Amino acid sequence: MLSLLRPLLAVWLYLLIPGQGRHRYNNGFHYQDITNGNGNGNGEIYFNGVRLHVESPQLSVSATRGSTVTLPCHYRYEPELNTTRRTRVKWSWLPANTINAHVSSAANGRETEVMVAMGNRQRSYGSFRGRVRLRRSAPGDMSLVINELHLNDTGRYRCEVIDGLEDESVTVELELRGVVFPYFSQKGRYHFNFLGAQQACEEQDATLATFEQLFTAWEEGLDWCNAGWLADGTVQYPIVVPREGCGGVDLAPGLRSYGQRHRLFHRYDAFCFSAAVKGTVYFLEHPSKLNFTEAVQACADSGAQIAKVGQLYAAWRLMGLDRCDAGWLADGSVRYPIAKARANCGPSEPGVRSFGFPPQHQKFSVYCYQATLV
Ligand SMILES: *[C@@H]1O[C@H](CO)[C@@H](O)[C@H](O)[C@H]1NC(C)=O
Ligand SMILES: *[C@@H]1O[C@H](CO)[C@@H](O)[C@H](O)[C@H]1NC(C)=O
Ligand SMILES: *[C@@H]1O[C@H](CO)[C@@H](O)[C@H](O)[C@H]1NC(C)=O
Repeated sequence: MLSLLRPLLAVWLYLLIPGQGRHRYNNGFHYQDITNGNGNGNGEIYFNGVRLHVESPQLSVSATRGSTVTLPCHYRYEPELNTTRRTRVKWSWLPANTINAHVSSAANGRETEVMVAMGNRQRSYGSFRGRVRLRRSAPGDMSLVINELHLNDTGRYRCEVIDGLEDESVTVELELRGVVFPYFSQKGRYHFNFLGAQQACEEQDATLATFEQLFTAWEEGLDWCNAGWLADGTVQYPIVVPREGCGGVDLAPGLRSYGQRHRLFHRYDAFCFSAAVKGTVYFLEHPSKLNFTEAVQACADSGAQIAKVGQLYAAWRLMGLDRCDAGWLADGSVRYPIAKARANCGPSEPGVRSFGFPPQHQKFSVYCYQATLV
């Protein structure tokens, strides 16, 4: 009887306790049962004042693209148990691009499964298939190990331990270290609908930035007065120095938001996010300046490829690439990376300088990308 009432009771407690359910939805109660001993053959386990705790020492983890990351999670019983119990573990996640910072967590997208494990059996799903495992370095260690981290693996992961009727969970945010850059089309400003913006970022070896990523970039000084799509379908731009034409002087510095725009019909620029690349981006030493076709060929001749915009930004931000020579990139734009600002190399702050998309017969240098280290 009690076992039937319990879920109902849990819902009531959940509603009554303010602040519950934001990051942990520990329903916070001790289960007393008198009808059964341990286990009733249905995989349900009844407790005598024993409580299941699921914990993570880190609420957020930051990693680099392509690396292996561990999202910590472990469980224990209080008081400690002598016998081992049959527990199920489920890792699920909310991709960063479905997390909308402006609505409550309950209104966000549904979590999808990453992996489930019971005993020694485990199963992984979707793009995580074959890429994840549980660490199991100690009893109760259910930390999730993800290999070959993708740009789009960021988001909120939930570690849920199910022991019969007890069900506790904890969430861990996964972030990637990287760089946000504004991007517009060769065809002009405010050209991309949402899908176009997504594709444009992917073509630059990047992905649409999340709200958190743009916010972090703004905190680090990104000031850009053209609105761009973000991964959650909103359109925003970061302003450090308030001014006319960029939301006005009366608004405090921050992200200016147009909110959700129509994904098909509305057109803007894009904010892309790129993280460390495996391999190197370098300035090609070449006896003469090159037009665009020659530039593509020159990189190929040296066993590499012409670099993409996301790769140049990542190399500038994460590897300190610094070169005061304008070079072609794969999208037909011409740019150069300045890590230490100096005279005759653009503005007084570090940055990637852009010449836009010059006619392709004009002559510049070129930046190449080599996938494997030479
Ligand atoms: C667990 O084992 C210890 C000795 O190893 C014993 O003292 C204790 O009573 C046991 N606890 C339970 C709940 O069985
Ligand atoms: C995430 O990125 C990987 C590789 O970069 C790709 O194969 C996968 O389809 C992407 N997943 C989603 C949901 O976009
Ligand atoms: C670049 O120069 C080559 C000759 O070296 C020429 O064949 C090619 O058409 C030029 N490309 C462009 C885009 O002007």
